Amino acid sequence: MKARIIGTGSHVPEKIVTNHDLAKLVDTSDEWIRERTGIIERRVSSEATATSDLAIVAAEKAIAKAKVSPEEIEVIIVCTTSPDTLFPSVACILQDKLKAVNAAAFDLSAACAGFNYGLAVASSLIEAGRHKTILLVGADTLTKYLDWTDRGTCILFGDAAGAVVLKADQDHGVISNFWKAEGWLGQSLVMPGGGSRDPENKHGRFIRMDGREVFKFAVRALESSVNEVLKGAGRGLSDITLLIPHQANIRIIDHVIKKMGLSKEKVYVNLHKYGNTSAASVPLALDEAAAEGKIKSGDLVILSGFGAGLTYGANAIIW
Ligand code: UT7
Repeated sequence: MKARIIGTGSHVPEKIVTNHDLAKLVDTSDEWIRERTGIIERRVSSEATATSDLAIVAAEKAIAKAKVSPEEIEVIIVCTTSPDTLFPSVACILQDKLKAVNAAAFDLSAACAGFNYGLAVASSLIEAGRHKTILLVGADTLTKYLDWTDRGTCILFGDAAGAVVLKADQDHGVISNFWKAEGWLGQSLVMPGGGSRDPENKHGRFIRMDGREVFKFAVRALESSVNEVLKGAGRGLSDITLLIPHQANIRIIDHVIKKMGLSKEKVYVNLHKYGNTSAASVPLALDEAAAEGKIKSGDLVILSGFGAGLTYGANAIIW
């Protein structure tokens, strides 16, 4: 059995923050941000909005498209590093709101690689015959953890949620996963405060990043995850219909696809509208690509992500 995506959904907050808005806060410009990242605007959630508030809308849309009942859902996995609270998990909050009374529910923490890690877990549960119907969500509100005086980070991130419903299927679905971590590089992208090392947030509740280090890792991670997942699937670069990479920086994507020899038409990009939405980035792009008719039944779709940890991973899907 394979894990087939039978419904997708996504949701973003209403408020748009443009590069021009950011140029009023820090020493930056629309031109610099566009040239160095490709981002033009991002969505920022209100003070009252938590990650589950975005996740529930994306999940409800995916469930409606999949035409499954909440009772059919056996597992809910929410990939996030910005949960509403340390516990209960966002997944348990969704279970309650959806009335998915028969489900197990847990959060998965792998930052921007979260959705690809989650898809590896969910598809393995389905392939093993343990479960038939799984709700997988990627959702983050990292703008709540941004230092709006740090131009190296505040220009990059946005908030969003994306969701898929996976169902056991004989023919279509995930055919290969790749996942890996390089924990020894973890200090290059850190949220120091708020955990058990610093419950009172003495070291700050803001994202700290060594952009150049993460950039170098990201280029390596994107290329190797795509190569490894293709190898696992027994396919080649020319078999790809659509690559949906983590939407962090257009320079990372352009550099890698040029090196690999993959044409731009085969790569989905929406980071100009949303920035880096962490675990939501890949399912948000997947939902938009599907809605735009970019993927047809039988196509080979490759998803890839990389992020804090440092973590990276990819999935190959026969749509
Ligand atoms: O999900 C994974 C998460 N993270 C990523 O994928 C991020 C990966 N890294 C990046 O995307 C890039 O490293 C950044 C966009 C963060 C930075 O771009 P960069 O081309 O690597 O810039 P840099 O850090 O090498 O800095 C070049 C210059 C510096 O000035 P000096 O020292 O040359 O005078 C920075 O101070 O650009 C300056 N700079 C800025 N200037 C205007 C850094 N940020 C900005 C800014 N506006 N926002």
